[in-house]
Amino acid sequence: MDEKVKNIYWHKHSVSAEDRWESNGYKSCVLWMTGLSASGKSTLANAINRRLHVMGINSYVLDGDNIRHGLNKDLGFNPESRKENIRRIGEVSKLFIDAGLIVLTAFISPYREDRDLVRNLINNGHFIEVYTKCPIPECEKRDPKGIYQRVRSGEIKEFTGISAPYEEPETPEILLETDKMIVEECIEKVLDYLIDNKFIYFLKRPRGVFVK
Ligand code: ADX
Repeated sequence: MDEKVKNIYWHKHSVSAEDRWESNGYKSCVLWMTGLSASGKSTLANAINRRLHVMGINSYVLDGDNIRHGLNKDLGFNPESRKENIRRIGEVSKLFIDAGLIVLTAFISPYREDRDLVRNLINNGHFIEVYTKCPIPECEKRDPKGIYQRVRSGEIKEFTGISAPYEEPETPEILLETDKMIVEECIEKVLDYLIDNKFIYFLKRPRGVFVK
């Protein structure tokens, strides 16, 4: 056992996640978006979050760029820092899941081992890996933050997909090919997954359907 937690005891909560699911009509989980910078993680996490909100579902976005301004501002981009970044967000997601929320995370999370660590931490199938797949040339063309340009000029080192690895998910629960699908199609695919797998089982407000 870790020396630091030797004399610390776990308090059982008076309200469990299951209690919350019963009154909410949906089960909490994390939609773990992984993919290259500019592959659409934040855009989709926010679009899905908005749609869940309209449906009366409590959800929350944890976004890499934002979290690195606060909770994780002590971390850089070497493999150890990225591992710690993902570990902390895994723990935060676990707390939010206990609080009954549908959590959407938008972190590159390039290492398979780090993502699997979170999957095992959360367990019970409440970790839903969402791969926002997009070829590098397309991400680079989008470049909403002008970051690829700075990478190419040599200003930024160890950049995922260019000078640092991205390990693709082998069997993600949800695959969103963002160079082929528009935002509404991606939202529908995620909602289908949540409803088909009984994460959402009672709709207080209509889902609304996107028609092509
Ligand atoms: S992760 O690899 O640790 O999961 P995270 O999602 O938190 O990364 O942060 C990625 C964001 O940080 C990118 O969208 C980009 O804007 C910025 N960034 C700055 N330097 C790097 C870098 N070397 N590699 C990847 N992203 C970087």
